[in-house]
Amino acid sequence: TEPNLNEIHDFLVSLAFKAGEIINNALPDTSGPGSKKNSADLVTQYDRAVENMISTSLKEKYPDYAFHGEETYDPARPLTDAPTFIVDPIDGTVNFVHGFPCACVSLGFAVNRIPTVGVVYNPSTKALYSAIKGQGAFLNHETRLPLKGDHVEPLSGLSNALISIEWGSDRRGSNWETKVRTFEKLGQAKEDGGAMVRSFRSMGSAALNICAVAEGTLDLYWEGGCWEWDVCAGWVILSEAGGIMVDGNPGGWETSLDGRKYLAVRGAPSAGQKGIVEEFWSYIQGTLT
Ligand code: IPD
Repeated sequence: TEPNLNEIHDFLVSLAFKAGEIINNALPDTSGPGSKKNSADLVTQYDRAVENMISTSLKEKYPDYAFHGEETYDPARPLTDAPTFIVDPIDGTVNFVHGFPCACVSLGFAVNRIPTVGVVYNPSTKALYSAIKGQGAFLNHETRLPLKGDHVEPLSGLSNALISIEWGSDRRGSNWETKVRTFEKLGQAKEDGGAMVRSFRSMGSAALNICAVAEGTLDLYWEGGCWEWDVCAGWVILSEAGGIMVDGNPGGWETSLDGRKYLAVRGAPSAGQKGIVEEFWSYIQGTLT
């Protein structure tokens, strides 16, 4: 049977609020959160507790659908075409641990690897972003995204753009070099060969970066190294708000959900999107693997 997308959406919203309560009542230990691969890649008891609550509820209500969550990810079971819930219990764990109010629960549902339902909830600000493929994207159920609606400005070029980037937690090797050298070129003055972007922001949560692009408060977001659970929910919200997700490496207009390199671009009247993607790609200093 076809998944009932509206029902799934409403159920994910209810789980997001439950997760938000756990997150808001949490007292994360700033002295010693567990780290995964290094001091920038954190996991707390709350990430695990929230994922456990969500996976238990989803498996009970939707036993036929697969579940793919950050804290229980097994590389031996990669993403498939099956209808799958793709969940990050706390996206922005570093912010959560530091009390910086930019962490969220990110609940996605993909069919044939296409992001189809997305719910992103930041319990600190009570902002709920949600979308169902084909039905538009909303903030707190009622405000349609992008926030400026039809009055959104065209994307005229990188020098007018506010761009979101992240250091990520991989700080070694050629991917690190590519990122840092690209940041440098993007920021640099035009007369010295740079793009002179207006400025950079880092929300510390891939999902919230993508939602900010969807609402139009950021123009682009580029990251290599994050995962399908960081982007799945936001991707639906972005597409439904008129934005596009392309490859973080030059040339990939179609990109895969688990490709781990992403460039999100906000909605724009006219053909501004493709032009700004090409301009962005031309400043990438290397290839992300
Ligand atoms: C991380 C955040 C961060 C991004 C990392 C992600 P987590 O997710 O989204 O902004 O730079 O690549 O792994 O670990 O907080 O769920």
